Amino acid sequence: MSTSKFAVAGATGRLGRHVVDVLAERGHQVVPMSRATGVDIITGTGLAEALAGVDVIIDVASWHASDREAATEFFRTATRNLHETGRQAGVGRAVAVSIIGADKATAGFVAAQQVHEEAHLSCPLPARILRAAQFHEFVGQLLDWQQGDVAYIPTLPTQLVACRTVAETLVALAEDPDAPAQAAPGTPIPEIAGPRTETMADAAKLLGARRGIQVVEVDGSGMPDAEIAAAGAFLPRPHATLAGPTFQEWLDTQACPAST
Ligand SMILES: NC(=O)c1ccc[n+]([C@@H]2O[C@H](COP(=O)([O-])OP(=O)(O)OC[C@H]3O[C@@H](n4cnc5c(N)ncnc54)[C@H](OP(=O)(O)O)[C@@H]3O)[C@@H](O)[C@H]2O)c1
Repeated sequence: MSTSKFAVAGATGRLGRHVVDVLAERGHQVVPMSRATGVDIITGTGLAEALAGVDVIIDVASWHASDREAATEFFRTATRNLHETGRQAGVGRAVAVSIIGADKATAGFVAAQQVHEEAHLSCPLPARILRAAQFHEFVGQLLDWQQGDVAYIPTLPTQLVACRTVAETLVALAEDPDAPAQAAPGTPIPEIAGPRTETMADAAKLLGARRGIQVVEVDGSGMPDAEIAAAGAFLPRPHATLAGPTFQEWLDTQACPAST
């Protein structure tokens, strides 16, 4: 296997840490990019230096809140900066993660991923997208957002996947210079999801039991796109790759269950 130099935007995040690990295990050179490592993909601070000599950018950076407009602005600016600075640095291509169902979403953070995808696919560097299901690691984040010993979690269907599994799939896509172009109509964007459908509330109950938090099921009304989510809009399409571990199997490997 030939090795390359990869710059990872969002390298310190939930997913980014696993992307860095997988790249290193596969013998690649890695440039971690986040504000914590001195690279700001919005202001451009440190970006040109970070991208010098890089072959492929992997974009797993994220906005921290659910507001659609703010998240859209983050993804639009970050993607433009990554591509423009990348082109000047001689980077060959880019790969980014998005969310399964982004194309169907009409509100909130998931809908902001539409601009993220479009920006990558229309920017100067050849780019590929991987859509992922909600992460196993996201369930802990949902519990963290609630206060006290009771958490109200929607019964919306999901097909949770481990960040490590997403990272392995993303790196494989990033390593492949011949991955099919996705801008053409009819070319499906690849998807990665976990092995089985469950509800977010069921997964949260498993984690809540370990944390001493009582999980109460709610119907999700009031959440962005609850109706289409209930109808399965955020479940993988038939062409998706499904891969373990299940949420329960993943939980059993976590010494101290945490959101990160
Ligand atoms: N959560 C899910 O279940 C899920 C499911 C499917 C897809 N996704 C997508 O996966 C991606 C990664 O999500 P995540 O949960 O891993 O995100 P995360 O844990 O919130 O990590 C975000 C990363 O972005 C970096 N970042 C933020 N602002 C930056 C800036 N201005 N310059 C440089 N780096 C910046 C952060 O580092 P610093 O703070 O140090 O800058 C951090 O490394 C997102 O696009 C998300 O939508 C998430």
